[in-house]
Amino acid sequence: MSMINGFTAEDAARLSEAEQRLIERRERLLGPAYRLFYERPLHAVRGEGVWLFDLQGRRYLDAYNNVVSLGHCHPHVVEAMYRQSKQLNTHTRYLQEGILDYAEQLLGTFDGELNRVMFTCTGSEANDLALRMARQYTGGTGVIITQFAYHGVTGDIAELSPSLGPAMVLPEHVRTIRAPDAYRLGAENVSSVFAADIRAAIADMKAHGIRPAAILFDGIFSSDGVLPGPAGFMEEGIALAQAEGLLYIADEVQPGFGRTGECMWGFMRHNVKPDIVTLGKPMGNGQPIAGIVGRSEVVDHFGRNMRYFNTFGGNPVSCAAGKAVLEVIQEENLQQRAQDTGRYLLEGLARLADRHELIGDVRGAGLFLGVELVTDRASKQPAAAQARKVVNHMRENGVLISAAGPLENVLKIRPLLAFTQEHADLLIESVDTALSEVER
Ligand SMILES: Cc1ncc(COP(=O)(O)O)c(C=O)c1O
Repeated sequence: MSMINGFTAEDAARLSEAEQRLIERRERLLGPAYRLFYERPLHAVRGEGVWLFDLQGRRYLDAYNNVVSLGHCHPHVVEAMYRQSKQLNTHTRYLQEGILDYAEQLLGTFDGELNRVMFTCTGSEANDLALRMARQYTGGTGVIITQFAYHGVTGDIAELSPSLGPAMVLPEHVRTIRAPDAYRLGAENVSSVFAADIRAAIADMKAHGIRPAAILFDGIFSSDGVLPGPAGFMEEGIALAQAEGLLYIADEVQPGFGRTGECMWGFMRHNVKPDIVTLGKPMGNGQPIAGIVGRSEVVDHFGRNMRYFNTFGGNPVSCAAGKAVLEVIQEENLQQRAQDTGRYLLEGLARLADRHELIGDVRGAGLFLGVELVTDRASKQPAAAQARKVVNHMRENGVLISAAGPLENVLKIRPLLAFTQEHADLLIESVDTALSEVER
């Protein structure tokens, strides 16, 4: 995960003295690895529904948050956590029903073959556990990812996250393939390129004496530039990898829990059958809960000879939050709303292309959208500086989005699932105004 939309020291001069002091204190205490969003970092002190409020009480429309997907401080989740916190919070080494009720409810959203769940606290841990399972099950080590993937921060998973930055040197057992960039590769080629790249990566691993273990893909290819690709494009590539004995790990940390609209899980757009699915971010609407859902054959193979205990993973408060999240998604019909509002937003943003030459491509699935900016539509020259300006202009005008992709030129729009058409209109208007300002 590069820091495309990041605050830099040169931006500090424009900040108030109080803000500068806070940033200095942060750096003194936390060191340089933490990065801030926006040229003028946001100091949010309160959240409610789709809004964040800063220190001065100014509100911001949050179109960049798939953690508190249901809305900031959703009362049903807060209440569920409060109730459980008052009663008991232990871990998975005691008998309890809450974790089982939640597990049943969660597994009910997958097809029957994905029938085991294990809990972690973060998406990184979930991917780490999935990788360990795949390696143990296959006896291999090799992993295939996309060129600008991000899968998390543990040692093994950072090695599968080239977008962390140039210091992230990929180890010998990793092969990268092209992301499904329909805009640059052509929508009609995405499926065959994906399959051919996977085939070549497997052959290359074998030629180097590396036994392949897994393919690991983010279902919306978010860090690669938000690339939903045409529905079904993954089918051929995944099938051939599985036929070669590799396990398919579907990283649903970004697209999961209804965000892509059509389905509860992003991979379901593609008619594929993951061996392991990894979950995180929106799972507890802000409470750190994550996990894996997998085929019993794979999960049991791992657990038979190895115990697993994650102190906070699957604790009763986190499970109460997770259960409440699933209830809200269902009761508030959020998956359908993600589809409807997402389509409305996609159409509205696509219409802006008539007025703004900078827009090269508008794409998305449900409430996960990318707007690729280019300085020239024919050559598709990336407009990274302009993307940065748009993001910061919008932040100044009270709408939060970010930018992504290896070329740093894709507006990354990931509104809360609680968005209505009214919020979508505000967002479209804000993109429109920012583009007009940047094009001036
Ligand atoms: C696709 C993907 N996988 C995994 C992760 C890691 O999740 P976490 O930050 O909870 O460890 C992220 C986080 O941004 C992600 O985007």
